[in-house]
Amino acid sequence: MASDLRPGGRTGQGRTVPAVRFAERVRDGTSFRRDQLGFLQWAVRTHGDVLRFRVFGLPMIMLNHPEDIYRVLVENRANYDKDALLYRLVRPVLRDGLIGSPGGEPWQRQRRLMQPLFRPAVVARFAATMTDETTRMLDRWERDHPRGAVVDVHRDFGELALRIVNRSLFSARVGDAARDFAAAFTEANDILGRFFTFPFPPLSVPTPAHRRLRRAIDRMDAFIASFVRRRAAEPSDEPDLLGLLMEAADERDGSRMAAEQLHHEVLNLVVGAYETTTNALSWIFWLLASHPEEARRLTEEADRALGGRVPGFDDMARTPYARWVVEETLRMYSPAWQFMRRAKGPDTIRGYRVPARAHIYLNSYVLHRHPDLWDDPDSFVPERFSPERSQGRHRHAYMPFGGGERICIGQHFALTELHLVLLTIARRYRFTLPPGRPPVRPEPLITLHPRGGVPLEVWPR
Ligand code: HEM
Repeated sequence: MASDLRPGGRTGQGRTVPAVRFAERVRDGTSFRRDQLGFLQWAVRTHGDVLRFRVFGLPMIMLNHPEDIYRVLVENRANYDKDALLYRLVRPVLRDGLIGSPGGEPWQRQRRLMQPLFRPAVVARFAATMTDETTRMLDRWERDHPRGAVVDVHRDFGELALRIVNRSLFSARVGDAARDFAAAFTEANDILGRFFTFPFPPLSVPTPAHRRLRRAIDRMDAFIASFVRRRAAEPSDEPDLLGLLMEAADERDGSRMAAEQLHHEVLNLVVGAYETTTNALSWIFWLLASHPEEARRLTEEADRALGGRVPGFDDMARTPYARWVVEETLRMYSPAWQFMRRAKGPDTIRGYRVPARAHIYLNSYVLHRHPDLWDDPDSFVPERFSPERSQGRHRHAYMPFGGGERICIGQHFALTELHLVLLTIARRYRFTLPPGRPPVRPEPLITLHPRGGVPLEVWPR
């Protein structure tokens, strides 16, 4: 593969993509492994919007222009699949679920089956779960924390996001059993997170950590299997995604999902939903605590729209500022900050040659700070998402949920959750930064974490 990317490679047409050379990295003192975000920003500043470099020894072509991203994700999508490093690494865990499925007919069938469950009208059924779990968290805060106490909200938001996705999947009756599932999931997620910073040896090698991962996956599988059995025997009175998944029938041939596939999809939904929403919530409240004027505007909007009520699904349309806060946070700290594709055959992008089997690297953290696309990109300005200011923006200049046919299936679910959790909290609490602490920095793991958590002073209003 490496030889295909060198000048004179056999496939594709056009010029060779400019490479980040080892010598210039040394000269400028930057490296992907030491400081990924710094390295990537330096690389596009130095080489422009199409460039290549190596990740764990594997050559990548990075695209940082909306037109080129559109080419890969939409216009010439048939030429690109997800049989790429990032997803190969997690296949032993996610198996045949949507996230890491390479593509083609098996993915299309699954997506067809599952897409209807994530329409806004269906997501609306889970609004009460989202606000109810948030209210419980706030009640615990009220009980456990004196006014102005410093709380690591990141930890609590992790628990909240997991409760919301578990209850949406398995209904409230899952009760205490969900705790065991959550514990196994958290353990698997931690091991996987560490693995991603240095993905050697492969997960198939039975190191002690990989054996623990295997056991955690077995526990999750057993939980899902027992819940599916129970769920089939006695239907739930609260709507849940598991029931909808079990009933989902392919519009083409009426067939349902096989039991094993169902397991994989449930796991993929929890993995897709958990860390991404946790991180998004943490960044939202850290940004608000750092920007009192924007926080005040949000609180005023929430008070005006809700008049003291717990928000419902319909309140989202009445609270545009809250939506802009969510969107601006996802611009600045896009939790799913990088993704990849693999070229099946050769292509030409911006006059550059893309050989068959090349890895394509897309990074929303860098794209969302492109100075040609965003005014003052390092500043938190929710109004930039107002309809007036959004006019004329390229569709692929903003892609916290990816783009094209593999766009996040849970995006309405996530946007609803973030919006409603934000309103529910803003009604009852405000936040300030504990004095003397340095700003929270992003840590690029599988998702973009706030390094060291998000300690904030929490004040009941
Ligand atoms: C703020 C929250 C979220 C963010 C930022 C996010 C981001 C993303 C991105 C960027 C992708 C596409 C990756 C790629 O093209 O390689 C994706 C795919 C996916 N996400 Fe999300 N996601 C979020 C929440 C959720 C939730 C709540 C769920 C489930 C309830 C979910 C389930 C999935 C699944 C199953 C896929 C794979 C879809 C497919 O390939 O057909 N995500 N997500």
